Amino acid sequence: MANISDDIKEVLLDEGKIKKKVKEIGKRISQDYDGKDLLLVGILKGSVPFMADLLKEITIPCSMDFMAVSSYGNSTKSSGVVRILKDLDFEIENKHILIVEDIIDSGITLAYLVDYLKGRKAKSVEIACLLNKADRRKVSVNAKYIGFEVPDYFLVGYGLDYAEKYRNFPYVGILKEEIYK
Ligand code: IMP
Ligand code: MG
Repeated sequence: MANISDDIKEVLLDEGKIKKKVKEIGKRISQDYDGKDLLLVGILKGSVPFMADLLKEITIPCSMDFMAVSSYGNSTKSSGVVRILKDLDFEIENKHILIVEDIIDSGITLAYLVDYLKGRKAKSVEIACLLNKADRRKVSVNAKYIGFEVPDYFLVGYGLDYAEKYRNFPYVGILKEEIYK
């Protein structure tokens, strides 16, 4: 594969692998939500590449919105505190919500968001997450669609950042420790 950044120790998931998985998930979503009023809610900014690719693989009509939350700052460890920086643009009463997220780590962000959206009377709230770091879970989260189980390394690319960098890489890679230590 061409053009791997010097800051990357190893490519975990290349573009082709991601593309194939996103296609599969899109197909499942199209079947599961056929005839339902589906709203995809992307969590900014990490979900953007996944959202853009997934959206095009969903063949039923659906809508899209975004929320921005903060729990990380510039460190590689969660602060455990979730703040809503940007809320939804529309009411979600009676809609089927599918939260689109890059990665589940401690689970704190998604557990909070699921509760929050259920509290706003959505008809259902489910999660589509590209990556799952199951070993790091602190609170339980049930994701209906998971792309890949990943080991506990700090990952960047395909939406994932370190200090707001690397989101643009088309692959998911392990960041070299010397970059953040
Ligand atoms: P959680 O609340 O601990 O599950 O954190 C989820 C959020 O942490 C994700 O949306 C990411 O922004 C961030 N995160 C967790 N692990 C990584 C990683 O390996 N690389 C980059 N961001 C990560
Ligand atoms: Mg994030």
